[in-house]
Amino acid sequence: MNSAPAPVVILISGRGSNLQAIVQAMRADRLPIVIRAVIGNNPAAPGLAIARAAGLVTQAIDHRDFTDRAAFDRALMEAIDRHEPRLVVLAGFLRILGKAFIDHYAGRLMNIHPSLLPAFKGLDTHARALAAGATRHGASVHFVGNDVDGGPVIVQAEVPVLPGDDTGTLAARVLAEEHRILPLAIRWFVEGRLSVRNGQVLLDGQVRPEQHLVAAPTGTH
Ligand code: GAR
Repeated sequence: MNSAPAPVVILISGRGSNLQAIVQAMRADRLPIVIRAVIGNNPAAPGLAIARAAGLVTQAIDHRDFTDRAAFDRALMEAIDRHEPRLVVLAGFLRILGKAFIDHYAGRLMNIHPSLLPAFKGLDTHARALAAGATRHGASVHFVGNDVDGGPVIVQAEVPVLPGDDTGTLAARVLAEEHRILPLAIRWFVEGRLSVRNGQVLLDGQVRPEQHLVAAPTGTH
């Protein structure tokens, strides 16, 4: 296996806590990647400041500077490809990406989404889970396909919805799991352990039902 750290580009839109979790996993758990750049579509995103403080290369490509989505996607692709990443991670990137972009990174574009996909694609997942009376909720990491928040699931983590939960308490419980499963999925990818067959993700060549539901380690926060 290739022992050099894998070049990765991370895309963000806002807070950057998942980015922070990846950086933490590099430092504390020797996640074998090098973050070549963190690119944000909002120049004021706190996550870009976090990246700069961590000594990472950052770039803002403001989607508001582009008249159409295809032009924005093209600029983003050019910026990403300059860094020749093996993997592109959408770590809280909230713009919809077009087919040309998604096809260009097929098999090496990963997204974290705050729901147990296929439930609750799109925005406001915690409010929608509460409104639906869900008793379980969670987060998913998946390869990006051509529908929003769609594509083969790599790993999911489930949390309970507790009596008295509001969107804040539920989001915090899910976010802690996001910070665990995103670095895990990146590790599996860069270690060459993931493949996709018939729209299903295999780990070490095997369908493993449990990889789709990695239970929370302890308690419920
Ligand atoms: C995270 O909860 C992530 O799952 C979600 O945005 C948040 C970003 O937080 N992504 C999506 O909803 C994608 N559809 P962060 O900036 O603190 O990592």
